[in-house]
Amino acid sequence: MNVYQAIINRRSTRKFKGDIVSDQIILKLLDAARWAPSGGNIQPWFFYVVEDRNKREQLVAAALGQKFIAEAPFCIVVCAEPEMSAIRYQQRGAELYCLQDTAAAVQNIMLAALEEGLVSCWVGAFQEDKVQQAFDMPRNRRPVAIIPIGYPVKEPGKAPVRKEIAEISHWV
Ligand SMILES: Cc1cc2nc3c(=O)[nH]c(=O)nc-3n(C[C@H](O)[C@H](O)[C@H](O)COP(=O)(O)O)c2cc1C
Repeated sequence: MNVYQAIINRRSTRKFKGDIVSDQIILKLLDAARWAPSGGNIQPWFFYVVEDRNKREQLVAAALGQKFIAEAPFCIVVCAEPEMSAIRYQQRGAELYCLQDTAAAVQNIMLAALEEGLVSCWVGAFQEDKVQQAFDMPRNRRPVAIIPIGYPVKEPGKAPVRKEIAEISHWV
């Protein structure tokens, strides 16, 4: 799959087969994540691979009852480490760069998943404190995305429309 195909064909998918995803593939997704760009190459991120059913249910509870999270065979919880970025970039590092870095890692994971025949969904609506408690995270680790991942049950639906390029760009 070329990069453009992957970018355009990726769909947020909320239905998964129960089939287990191999550790080898999960490692490839984590490898894709760590190759994302980051401010100053600080790599202020941490990833929880969540296969445990009970922990996945805890993620559902933290994410306002979004049940599909537990229906995927595993999730990756992507976290930012604001204090790592702050060491070099102070407030801008803590409030902006580390979040941009982790967002890039999330997209890498989702595109790599597609290449592996998997589907996923970026979940951002959750209570951070509940996710922190579920994984006993250090205080300075901030969960920024939950990505349920699994094999698709059917072909992806119609792509949601995008704004026209003319509407979102200005050439000078
Ligand atoms: C920051 C962010 C937060 C999101 N949070 C959720 C969420 O909590 N639940 C959900 O079902 N989808 C969530 N999505 C997925 C979007 O709804 C989806 O990307 C959008 O509708 C476009 O569809 P597409 O990804 O198939 O192109 C989120 C996406 C982003 C980037």
